[in-house]
Amino acid sequence: MLTIALPKGRIAEETLEIFTEIFGGEFKFESRKLILDIGEFRFLNVRNQDVPTYVEHGAADIGIVGLDVITEKELDIIKLLDMQLGKCKVSIGIKNEDELDWNKPNIKVASKMVNITKNYFAQKAVGVEVVKLYGSIELAPLVGLVDAIVDIVETGATMRENGLKVAEDIMDSSAHLIANKNSYYSKKEEILSLYEKINQVVQDRA
Ligand code: PRP
Repeated sequence: MLTIALPKGRIAEETLEIFTEIFGGEFKFESRKLILDIGEFRFLNVRNQDVPTYVEHGAADIGIVGLDVITEKELDIIKLLDMQLGKCKVSIGIKNEDELDWNKPNIKVASKMVNITKNYFAQKAVGVEVVKLYGSIELAPLVGLVDAIVDIVETGATMRENGLKVAEDIMDSSAHLIANKNSYYSKKEEILSLYEKINQVVQDRA
């Protein structure tokens, strides 16, 4: 039995489609159910940011989560596979009429991703004040809360529609298959067998 934490929404649906492709049958959460038991698998329907918590604590053996979240949380987990799903970038955004002034003594930046932001600016030896927000990050520079944002850019539509532009890309992200360290040793055969099947589908699609 393997317990698999999936991030609610499109990535969970696309991952379950991969399971259907591999094993047949119907891998689908019932409307409000948070657990799906099917065959040898138990799927957990959790918030994206919470997937690593379930995996790190061993409440889930494996999980699917964005590289951005893995990087932000500096997780003690095993990274198994890039699923090539949910591709996006973590980028610095500023107002269309602005330029990012690296010489400014203390740039004020809003983000959900405090560590990624701090590390990026530290690497450039630029002082940064990070304002932690939980969503609608694009609003912050528009009302003068900050000079810039660090956020996920997928299609670019949210920034565009709010008069923002990308100043710099920080990293590429996509959904990754991760494993709890203990599970990886105690259930190695099960996990590797599943990994190989998923990897096959991912490579065939590429
Ligand atoms: C993310 C991100 C941006 C948006 C970017 O938010 O924070 O706002 O998607 O996508 P786009 O480039 O295609 O417009 P999400 O919808 O994931 O919601 P969240 O605030 O809960 O993270």
